[in-house]
Amino acid sequence: MAGVGHARSLEAKRILLIVGGGIAVYKSLELVRRLRERGTVVRVVMTAAAKEFVTPLAFVSLANEKVYDDLFSATDEQEMGHIELSREADLIVVAPATAHLLARAARGLCDDLATTLLLATDKRVLYAPAMNVRMWLHPATQRNVATLHGDGAWFVGPNIGDMACGEYGPGRMSEPLEIAEAIETALMQGARLPPPDGLMPQGGALKGRHVVVTSGPTHEPIDPVRYIANRSSGRQGHAIAAAAARAGARVTLISGPVALFDPPGCEVVHIESARDMMTAVEAALPADIFIAAAAVADWRAAPAAEKIKKDQSGAPALSLIENPDILASVSRGSKRPRLVVGFAAETTDLIRHAQEKLVRKGCDLIVANDVSEGAGVFGGATNEAHLVSPAGVEDWPRLRKEDVAARLIARLAEMIGDERAP
Ligand SMILES: Cc1cc2nc3c(=O)[nH]c(=O)nc-3n(C[C@H](O)[C@H](O)[C@H](O)COP(=O)(O)O)c2cc1C
Repeated sequence: MAGVGHARSLEAKRILLIVGGGIAVYKSLELVRRLRERGTVVRVVMTAAAKEFVTPLAFVSLANEKVYDDLFSATDEQEMGHIELSREADLIVVAPATAHLLARAARGLCDDLATTLLLATDKRVLYAPAMNVRMWLHPATQRNVATLHGDGAWFVGPNIGDMACGEYGPGRMSEPLEIAEAIETALMQGARLPPPDGLMPQGGALKGRHVVVTSGPTHEPIDPVRYIANRSSGRQGHAIAAAAARAGARVTLISGPVALFDPPGCEVVHIESARDMMTAVEAALPADIFIAAAAVADWRAAPAAEKIKKDQSGAPALSLIENPDILASVSRGSKRPRLVVGFAAETTDLIRHAQEKLVRKGCDLIVANDVSEGAGVFGGATNEAHLVSPAGVEDWPRLRKEDVAARLIARLAEMIGDERAP
């Protein structure tokens, strides 16, 4: 996960901070301060062990909110029940996430308020682990982390460095600003968990299928320090990969450089340039469905081996070379998936360009969206998609990108299920 600044995105958000009993608890006090500076409402829950390190009063003073620590408190339960405490948050953050908390959460134990909230939540949980290097590297902890990751949890850190116990290695909790940045990323990506399988309308619709999705921008190097990029955030592509995984598919997500967490349940290949993406897509085939949601650079520069110096001879001229056309080559290649879906981001004549692209690239469906100024697609939370196929054009209302993804996957499942044209 790479980081970007979205200073305003934490304003008025509600974070439930679960504090475990580790020496790094002093950094969580700083985290509360940093979040409050950004206008975030922070409710703090402390484990019994956490209270051995700092008193609830320290968190009350910084958060300016009541601190919760007792599952069986009649007054707390009457004021704000434990389920409500967990549900009203936009995101749950566990910092420090002790080895013991990770173990209990991975097993689904709920023997105190902290772990009960972790089990009752409908939001993803961001863990900031903090522990001795041996504890972190212990196979039991690594198993617990893998289990939680598989369940959709996100992790920030731990960092490598000197530890309070005098040892050196991975286990230091991330710094408060790193955690604040990870919280911004998590909130931008949407922290609400999908309904459990039993409640999923399309659960299993793509079971046994392999879906390859590309997402995000590509970076085309100019020299060792500079590159050509575009404004794609990867939110739509990542949401599509997550929706395909929820529908039971085996998903390979090939992602350019984005500030997003890897979606749960997907095999993620991280690449930089269009040519890397082409290689990764070829390696991922065969597949049943290919969805090209990435904003692949059309051109690249012939990169200089050394940093281009600013000198008296003026600005350098960049001569550009055409990049491989990933969508067309998959669509016309010998390993063509049964369904090939392209995206068209246009600023003018959206539908006409999308229809031309459908024919030119030989794909089954184009998801067209208007990226002219003010349409707010790049980096935004919503998308107004138009589905262009040989059968015609279907206009979808403005929807959250997660909802566009769910609809698209439901449509593709239908199409591949009965092999009809859309
Ligand atoms: C001085 C001291 C420092 C500790 N630091 C950590 C730590 O950084 N990480 C950790 O996982 N456990 C640490 N522990 C052990 C936990 O406090 C212990 O496992 C406790 O049961 C955790 O409970 P909790 O997960 O409910 O907060 C420490 C214990 C002591 C005495």
